[in-house]
Amino acid sequence: MPSYEHDIRHSVQSLHFIRRLVYRSSVESTNTLANSLAREGSDEWTVVVADAQEHGRGRQGRVWHSPPGVNVYTSIIVKPVIAYDDIPAISLLAGMVVAIVLEHVSGIVAELKWPNDVMIAGKKISGILLELGNGDPGRPYLVVGIGINVNSEPGEYPGQLSGSATSMKTLTGTTYDRAGLLNYLYREFHEWYTYYCSHQGFMSIKEHYMQRFTMINKRVQIQSGAERMSGFVEDIDASGRLVLRDDRGETTTIKSGDVYRVG
Ligand code: BTN
Repeated sequence: MPSYEHDIRHSVQSLHFIRRLVYRSSVESTNTLANSLAREGSDEWTVVVADAQEHGRGRQGRVWHSPPGVNVYTSIIVKPVIAYDDIPAISLLAGMVVAIVLEHVSGIVAELKWPNDVMIAGKKISGILLELGNGDPGRPYLVVGIGINVNSEPGEYPGQLSGSATSMKTLTGTTYDRAGLLNYLYREFHEWYTYYCSHQGFMSIKEHYMQRFTMINKRVQIQSGAERMSGFVEDIDASGRLVLRDDRGETTTIKSGDVYRVG
C-alpha cells in the first residue's frame, strides 16, 4: 500500500518550484525543523511535511494538536525580497490561501478571523504560524507553518478543543486525500505569494481577503500580549494591521493578538 510519504512525493513531482521536500513520519514541529534548515542555508521553497508532530506549535505559545494519520502539518521556507513592513501580512495571505483551497477541494466556505485563523461556524479548521529569521545577510527567511484539520474525528480533540475545533471530514463526512490537498495548497500559495511579492503590500490582495473577513463593524475584545482592548473592527490597514475604533471613537492599529467577538 502506498505510504503518505510516497503519495506526497508523487503528488508534488509536477510542482517545479518546490526545491526540496523533507518528510518525517514524526517530528517535534515542522516549523522548528524548517527553521533549522533555513538557518543552515536551505533554499527557499524547501517544504517540510510530517504525518505527526510531537509538539506542534500554535500562536501565542499554544500547542497545536497533531495526531498521526489524519491531518496536514507543513512548513514552507520562503525568502521574500520585499519591504520589511509588507512581510507580516504574508500571514494573512496564507490564511486566505487555505480558505480558497478548502473551498476548492471540499466546497466548505470558510471565514477568516484576523490575522489568519480559518473558521467554520465559529470553529477552527486551520491555523498558521509565521516565523521570521535571519538567513544570508540582508535576506531574511520566513517559515510559513500551516496546520489543517483534514480527517480528524470530533472525538479526537482533547478537552477544551473539542468545542472549538472542527475538520473537513467532520463537516462533510468525506475522507480527503492529504497528498492531493498538499499539492493544491502549495500551488495556490506559490501563485498568491508570487503575486503578492511583485505587487507588494496587503492592498494588492485586500479585496480577496475581505471577501472572507466577517468582522467589520463587529464588537471585539483583543488580547495582545498582556494588553486587553475592546472596540469595533473598522478596517485592516495597508500593512495587514487591524484597525479598531474604541468607544470614544478613537482608532488604534493592532499588529498581533487574539480577537474574540463580544456582544
Ligand atoms: C495557530 O493557530 O495557533 C497556529 C497553528 C499552526 C500549526 C502549524 S502545524 C504545522 C506547523 N508546525 C507547527 O509546529 N505549527 C505549524
